[in-house]
Amino acid sequence: MKTKTLLTVLLFVSTLFTTQFSLAQLPKETDAQKAERMKWWTDARFGMFIHWGLYALPARHEWVKNAERMTNDQYQKYFEMFNPDMWDPHEWAKMAKAAGMKYVVLTAKHHEGFCMFDSRFTDYKSTNTPYGKDIVKEYVEAFRAEGLKVGFYYSLLDWHHPDYTIDSNHPQRQTSDSAYALLNKTRDMSKYREYVKNQVRELLTNYGEISIIWFDFSFPGKNGKGHDDWDSENLLKMVRSLQPGIIVDDRLDLDNVAGGWDFTSPEQVQVSKWPERDGKKVPWETCQTFSGSWGYYRDEFTWKSPAQLLELLIESVSKGGNLLLNVGPTARGVFDSRAQDRLKAMGEWMRFNNRSIYGCTEAPSDFAAPANTLLTYNPVTKRLYVHLLAYPLGNLTLSNMADKVKYVQFLHDASEIRFRAGGDDAKNDLILSLPVQKPQVEIPVLEVFLK
Ligand code: GLC
Repeated sequence: MKTKTLLTVLLFVSTLFTTQFSLAQLPKETDAQKAERMKWWTDARFGMFIHWGLYALPARHEWVKNAERMTNDQYQKYFEMFNPDMWDPHEWAKMAKAAGMKYVVLTAKHHEGFCMFDSRFTDYKSTNTPYGKDIVKEYVEAFRAEGLKVGFYYSLLDWHHPDYTIDSNHPQRQTSDSAYALLNKTRDMSKYREYVKNQVRELLTNYGEISIIWFDFSFPGKNGKGHDDWDSENLLKMVRSLQPGIIVDDRLDLDNVAGGWDFTSPEQVQVSKWPERDGKKVPWETCQTFSGSWGYYRDEFTWKSPAQLLELLIESVSKGGNLLLNVGPTARGVFDSRAQDRLKAMGEWMRFNNRSIYGCTEAPSDFAAPANTLLTYNPVTKRLYVHLLAYPLGNLTLSNMADKVKYVQFLHDASEIRFRAGGDDAKNDLILSLPVQKPQVEIPVLEVFLK
């Protein structure tokens, strides 16, 4: 009898121990398993970022509350006025799809703290504005209906929550330790951490399958915040247990934790080569704006041209990465005409040329890109894509490729491109003969069928 009780107790303790232990780990995955989980995303290459919140009303950057050091009271008017009467999420979804985008990430909450969803844990949410509805719910349904994978951006920073301690990125930032201490006396980050978990749980439970979560951002150091402030590891464990297939960015400050991130997220920069960690190429996505702001900015005019935007996309794929291109909708709930024009132009190009994007990656290193071109490569179909950024006059030489090529055509109209080998001194060069006139395509693409 005694032994039986002892055994039961031992069993109980050991179960407890194993559960605790397994809770202490993020799910383990081999590189191959991770690549498989992320395959739809690496194949997709092109997604839409949407920065939408109360900051659409001031229309002068999503950091306006910070830049102008506004208090909650001063910012409150935007909450009271929020009413995007023209919003049709189906229209947005159709525009994203027509542009060739395969996934979408919406700011469920940005740094301002305003929630675009009907959270049980705050009153500061879209359902309490004149608009009165759960934006996230409408968004998820509309984009899914167009066949896009949906994701959420969730800001770790929160400039509204009463327990979020004032830090160097806060609108009420200070200049001395004592001033910080005074302001933070009544604030309790442990409550804020719970709030984040509760909200992320809601987002990953109430809206069906969520494919991406984009946490933003960590800034460890004095008067900053990092993984301990967010309890990043436990937050991420919860995320992975609620949505096992989900793809997570790298801004939780878990760089050195196995399974702590899925892709790296260079922002507003062109990478010089495929990013690596410990000598290994890693999945990556660059996020970029059309102009100099993520949120709608009426008076900002540094808009990139369609050719520049297409080049960004092609360049990312040519280095094995993705492009997440941002739209900052207006407070009426529409994409302004400058954004619409660019999406249309990209869609026009993608319609005829997406074969050089979807499922493509960096070309094998034995293919050298001729001047003013970008190469992408589809490892399944074994086709090489030569993007002509500047249109050459008459000929284009692919060096050392004569023995590798079966057939060449323009991608947009499948018209044959004739070629010949380079002659005596460069026998293995392949000389393509191009029409003198540049085709009516922003960036023409040559599709090269390899042997
Ligand atoms: C930065 C900014 C933020 C924006 C994000 C997108 O971290 O704080 O406003 O949402 O970049 O990557």
